[in-house]
Amino acid sequence: MDKSRRAFSIGGLLASATVLMGKEAIADTASSGNYQLAGKPEAFVKKMGIKYPIVQAVIGGSTPDLAAAVSNAGGMGGIGMSWSPEQEVRDFVKATKSLTKAPFAIGYVLSFGANTLPAALDAGAPVIQFSFGTPSKKQIAMIRAAGAKFGMQVSTVDGAKQALEAGADYINVQGQEAGGHIQAQGSWRDHLPRILEITGKTPTLVAGGLSNGKDLRDVISMGASGGVFGTRFAASKEYPSHPEYKKRMINSRPSDTALTVCFDGGWPGAMHRVLRNPTLERWEAAGSQGSGMRPGEGDIVGTIGDMKFERYNLFPAFVVTQGKVEDMAMYAGLGVGAIKDIQSAGDIVQGIWNECVGNKA
Ligand SMILES: Cc1cc2nc3c(=O)[nH]c(=O)nc-3n(C[C@H](O)[C@H](O)[C@H](O)COP(=O)(O)O)c2cc1C
Repeated sequence: MDKSRRAFSIGGLLASATVLMGKEAIADTASSGNYQLAGKPEAFVKKMGIKYPIVQAVIGGSTPDLAAAVSNAGGMGGIGMSWSPEQEVRDFVKATKSLTKAPFAIGYVLSFGANTLPAALDAGAPVIQFSFGTPSKKQIAMIRAAGAKFGMQVSTVDGAKQALEAGADYINVQGQEAGGHIQAQGSWRDHLPRILEITGKTPTLVAGGLSNGKDLRDVISMGASGGVFGTRFAASKEYPSHPEYKKRMINSRPSDTALTVCFDGGWPGAMHRVLRNPTLERWEAAGSQGSGMRPGEGDIVGTIGDMKFERYNLFPAFVVTQGKVEDMAMYAGLGVGAIKDIQSAGDIVQGIWNECVGNKA
């Protein structure tokens, strides 16, 4: 496995090791309803066994601590594990299960396969979330045999058709508003209405640019069953990103983000949305050229122990990263402008819900 990709998960492991130690299981809060939005969101939360139609995106570098905090607060937490070795997948699933009895998702970017899916299921992963592709019949059979559920991120009507044919338990429609890697060719607004025409009873969520309760209310009023929040939880206390990255999250506007292929080291040509930074600006000024012709290529901009990360690598800066962290990828979606402080993930879930249903905090 490419060392730089692997480190996307190792950074999370290092950062979460201390928080995991000695923590006791937190009570399950995802039981009984009390949701105030009838119809599709209620059907979705009932199907998944959660309390609120608030899903944390399976962001790379996320930890058991973050996923469990979201799930314990009544949302559905998640951990992106595409680049993690098998033992880490087992450890993370078990650690999350020790912190919450509520459902959480393990995420796979199918461009990189899902070799550790059997390990995740064996360790008891309750939900699997796929992006950038459709799982094979064999993988789906494995998920069903384990009694788990699965969701699929799509961006078009054809993608939604494939998800329905695969029997996905829910669909998540991603748009280019999203932070991180983007499979969408346009806004989710361009595709959602036509996707909703065909999804019927299969819960359909929106991902991209959502930050608060008003955003959730808006997508539900458009016919969605709930919302997926990535950037918002990347700006949580539990997400182990570097303080510089979190500071940029608080101080950035939507126009401070860029949809680009600049940081494609480790995933050539993959589109992503990041905060503008010196690496991006220098690359754009030099004509946005491809690999081999980019300014400062080969510079080491970050290290974790003996691991070194070159400029243009997809690896973001974690709390354990040292170096020119401001030059590394900082993933953020268009919803970044609404983030004013770094809260705990549980407070974020409750705040989004309170605002969505009009409750005072
Ligand atoms: C920091 C960060 C890391 C991400 N990592 C992954 C990942 O590993 N796998 C994946 O499928 N999507 C990843 N995404 C994209 C999310 O799945 C989701 O589509 C996106 O966060 C939704 O848009 P939002 O960030 O505006 O809420 C990431 C997003 C962010 C912000």
